[in-house]
Amino acid sequence: GLPERVTVYEVGPRDGLQNEAAVVPVEVKAEFVARLAAAGHRVIETTSFVHPAWVPQLADAAELLTRVERMPGVRYPVLVPNERGLDRALEHGVEEIAVFASATETFARKNLNRTLESQFEMFEPVVARALGHGLRVRAYVSMCFGDPWEGPTPVGQVVSVGRRLLDLGCFELSLGDTIGVGTPGHVVALIGAFGDPSRLAVHFHDTYGQALANTLAALRAGVTVVDASTGGIGGCPYAESATGNLATEDLVWMLHGLGVETGLDLASLVETSTWLAAELGRPSPSRVVQALGVS
Ligand code: HMG
Ligand code: MG
Repeated sequence: GLPERVTVYEVGPRDGLQNEAAVVPVEVKAEFVARLAAAGHRVIETTSFVHPAWVPQLADAAELLTRVERMPGVRYPVLVPNERGLDRALEHGVEEIAVFASATETFARKNLNRTLESQFEMFEPVVARALGHGLRVRAYVSMCFGDPWEGPTPVGQVVSVGRRLLDLGCFELSLGDTIGVGTPGHVVALIGAFGDPSRLAVHFHDTYGQALANTLAALRAGVTVVDASTGGIGGCPYAESATGNLATEDLVWMLHGLGVETGLDLASLVETSTWLAAELGRPSPSRVVQALGVS
């Protein structure tokens, strides 16, 4: 069966904008976040407190948080890789963070400058201190299906990394298909290998056009939290060949068609995507935005 309701975890301001060639002005980002909340989003991943030289597109994280008017009932998580990032997040009143691990050795080095093992030494004090401050901590695992350097990722390796993050006290684990190579059978096998789907979320990049099919497979396997980005923008600058996330509008079209509630207003989402595409100077990759948007 399918869930009655799905939480769409919007990553456009973070995953979406981190991979744009141009740096988007901070006031445009603040308007983007406000529009997403107005369209019904209840969780908006807003920015990252990573090293500003590693992701210059999000170097204005602190400034952005002072400009975002936080609405009651809306969560505004931010990515935090290490204690320096946590200090910066705490200074700005952040209530929810997300740590992000790699399932593979090569990507741990490329994205975090750590080994597969030593990434945990970086996250452990972050999660412990964040929980001590009463924050909610989400965790990602990247390269859950395959890695551009190592090929397909063994399911057991993903489960081992993911369980360690959940055991630290993270409330949710988002399974990242960073380069979009996963297919539905692999999705079902991975979710099944975790046993309990209740703390799992899925994060599909749409590089190979599999994101919607993979999402449907994940929903049938018991997942109820799905990551997506406005207009399908995004990608990780440290993952070769990564393109945009599953587009929020494509996801919402499918969910509403299936009778699954999201609390989102599709027309507002499409309008925001069209506005953002104009700001970015390129059309949205989303098929639904192309079909419904007026440009
Ligand atoms: P490092 O060079 O090993 O850092 O980078 P370090 O710990 O050695 O520190 C070096 C210097 O950087 C120090 O300054 C630190 O203070 C400073 P110094 O003492 O030399 O003057 N520093 C910082 N400054 C500001 N904020 C910070 C910070 N940390 C250190 N947070 C590090 C390690 C993790 C920082 C770096 O590798 C990094 O920032 N990586 C982030 C890369 C990234 O953001 N990738 C994209 C997000 S992940 C993604 O997109 C995948 C996802 O969507 C899921 C999926 O699709 O699969 C989540
Ligand atoms: Mg991603």
